[in-house]
Amino acid sequence: MRLTYTGDLWWKNAVVYCLDVETYKDGNGDGIGDFRGLTQQIDHLDRLGVTCIWLMPFFPTPGRDDGYDITDYYSVDPRLGTLGDFVEFVRTARDRGIRVIADLVVNHTSDEHPWFKESRSSRDSAKRDWYVWRDEPEPFDPKAIVFPDEEDSLWELDEGTGQYYYHSFYRFQPDLNTANPEVRDEIARILGFWMELGLSGFRVDAVPFLIEDIDGGPHEFLADLRAFMNRRDGTSILLGEVNLPYPELTEYFGDGNGDEVTMCFDFVAMQRFHLSMARKNPKALAEALRERPKAPDDAQWAMFMRNHDELTLDKLTEAEKHEVFDAFGPDKDMQLFDRGLRRRVPPMLGGDLSRLKLAYSVLFSLPGTPVLFYGEEIGLGENLEAKGRMAVRVPMQWAPSGGFSRGEVRTPVPPVTGEFGPRHVNVEDQRRDPDSLLHWVTMLIERYRECPELAWGDYDVLDAGDEAVLAHRADAEGGTVVAVHNFADREAEVELVLEGLGDPCVLVDLLVDGTLDVGPGGRAGFTMGPYGCRWFRVAEPDEFPEDASAKGH
Ligand code: GLC
Ligand code: CA
Repeated sequence: MRLTYTGDLWWKNAVVYCLDVETYKDGNGDGIGDFRGLTQQIDHLDRLGVTCIWLMPFFPTPGRDDGYDITDYYSVDPRLGTLGDFVEFVRTARDRGIRVIADLVVNHTSDEHPWFKESRSSRDSAKRDWYVWRDEPEPFDPKAIVFPDEEDSLWELDEGTGQYYYHSFYRFQPDLNTANPEVRDEIARILGFWMELGLSGFRVDAVPFLIEDIDGGPHEFLADLRAFMNRRDGTSILLGEVNLPYPELTEYFGDGNGDEVTMCFDFVAMQRFHLSMARKNPKALAEALRERPKAPDDAQWAMFMRNHDELTLDKLTEAEKHEVFDAFGPDKDMQLFDRGLRRRVPPMLGGDLSRLKLAYSVLFSLPGTPVLFYGEEIGLGENLEAKGRMAVRVPMQWAPSGGFSRGEVRTPVPPVTGEFGPRHVNVEDQRRDPDSLLHWVTMLIERYRECPELAWGDYDVLDAGDEAVLAHRADAEGGTVVAVHNFADREAEVELVLEGLGDPCVLVDLLVDGTLDVGPGGRAGFTMGPYGCRWFRVAEPDEFPEDASAKGH
């Protein structure tokens, strides 16, 4: 596959890494992460092979929803640094060839944002219509309450003006009225501001919640934003948080036109992946991959194993959800909102390194753009002492002593202790250990980038001859890559039939083992160890594998 192509639409095989400046690295010793600390760690991300950093909200905030409650869209939370530090960071990342995107949280503001203060000051205020006001709460489905632990309504009475305002999330997060043209202009101005300062795009928070009561709903709004961004910088992207079933989800790509969100997270495959891991049988994931509609040409699916929220299982059936709970989070305290887990993957898997390696090998081989949550590369755990979703937002572990801060750590969530604490899980030790998860993930990223077919290609889920095995192939421009994964802790006998390949041809192993011959009729058979992983490139005998990728030309 031609790399000139992949460079233009850089997001289609990017490696995205989500982090919170506050919990990544403290640069000034006050115990809270900051832009200077993060900038000093840029080479960790460069060595890992990250091509795009996604910054969680870093704006001024009262901090009641970990920064997803913003009081000023045009500056940096002073605890994390200054605009100057931000620009230095983006510039240093760019020097390493790494792009930066940031959370765009415009479904709502904090109730302490000056816009909302003005809006609620009187019914005639110039900003009254920037939010959604009603004399009486409109009827709503109780299932629409996102945080049932703390909220029982989507409407909150404002005593001062005697009307109710709408909030999709917490009551301190009033929804902006994106139907109002002034609000839309202001949002475009926010995007434009950060793009001038070097951002390559945005992760759009809570997309389906954006106000619907206008002609065309949020689709028109999203298409407007995307058009605005394209005018300013045609390589910028929107990465959408859209947790919906596939048929509704794909509408956010822009109904086949690809003129709305550039990438959508694949929440369906993510949930089926965990179900498959729990069952040690990949059928549920294979079905998701077969069902999934194709993304429009310039759009892409974003693949992930968990994000910064609860690991939601809301798209599984009740019975399936309980299978995952039983396998990976049996204690009530590990579960949240009766729909998800507040754990990170390594403790879910009991710290089993070979199973973790399998999990990441699957993630990087799946069709789409992988998105990591910071610390996944070293097997960071969680801190269940923290409240709710915060359990997974623990400080990064750089060294056996922690290495997060030279002062006393003062992050919202205290560091992990016990078997996943810094003494056992940290960057410094894993850099020295060739068998570590860090080395494995670094290699997977390298191979993923060398196999653009995986992200770009047409894919097929193959019959592998053993129910514990997921085998899929990806084809693009004459190049073919095959990935095979054994989900079970027993050996598996794999029998593949690979159609339409040249004759003779071989399967060059890209991870660890040797080359295999492909027999007549495209047959290839081999034995895999427990949790085994193999990635192959199809080549002619004695052909240089990279040549096999580019031979369509
Ligand atoms: C999204 C974020 C979540 C936040 C919510 C409200 O779901 O992922 O962390 O609390 O939006 O902004
Ligand atoms: Ca600091």
